[in-house]
Amino acid sequence: MYPSPQSLPAEFAEALSRAGARLGPFGGEPLWYPDVPSTNDVALALAERGAEEGRLVIANAQSAGRGRQGRAWASPAGAGLYFSAVLKPHARAVPLLTIAAGVAVAEGIQTATGLSPRLKWPNDVYVSERKVAGVLAEAGSDVHYVILGIGINVLPAAYPPEIASRATSLEGELGRAVDRGLLLTECLSALAARYTDLQHGRADAVMDAWRGRAASTFGRTVRWEASGVAREGVAENIDATGALVVRTDSGPVRLISGEVQWI
Ligand code: BTN
Repeated sequence: MYPSPQSLPAEFAEALSRAGARLGPFGGEPLWYPDVPSTNDVALALAERGAEEGRLVIANAQSAGRGRQGRAWASPAGAGLYFSAVLKPHARAVPLLTIAAGVAVAEGIQTATGLSPRLKWPNDVYVSERKVAGVLAEAGSDVHYVILGIGINVLPAAYPPEIASRATSLEGELGRAVDRGLLLTECLSALAARYTDLQHGRADAVMDAWRGRAASTFGRTVRWEASGVAREGVAENIDATGALVVRTDSGPVRLISGEVQWI
């Protein structure tokens, strides 16, 4: 159904092998594709056929990369990191998985580049008030596994010019080249640590890390749509399930999924 995977480029293979045990469940040999429709689809198909936890799919380009809320995720060749992992979380870890992934991507970017990314609920990763990376979690039909797809803009060419006021890239921010092998390795290493936190009942540590990177968004007005009606309120916090708690004129509202617009 998909073209055969090819051998992993040296920039990734060498960095991953240096990381060793830090990669936790992601330490196996990743599948590398020059071009696939979506790494999430490949990982989903593998999971349906019984792939083990941590199986990783990486692509140099995606022809049908997708983002949250049914949006497309532009994925031109070599301009970003596009990868997906098969996870088999405990039921109690599932609700906070995307929160943990956002934290891990921010931490991985920080370790690899020195930038200090912020988070916007639930898991958008921002640098200089513009989005640099995103996470798409998709559950399998029986929810025994979750596919975690991560996209990071490395070059300005990763995103279409028409969203340049809202998007940015690591190299655009830094003004220098970014080592993609190191970036992938540090994101996976952080993901392994944060996933282990969740699996071992340390959700508080994950939420504290999330709050630390999202503090500047608390107290800000957000808009969202509920059953076709526009609503507005002030974002206050996330609760123990990862829901965004918003203060409105008619009392607190918990947003469990979907999209908010930050005003
Ligand atoms: C978002 O909208 O913020 C989530 C973007 C997720 C993009 C990644 S790229 C790798 C994986 N494959 C996809 O088709 N999407 C995710």
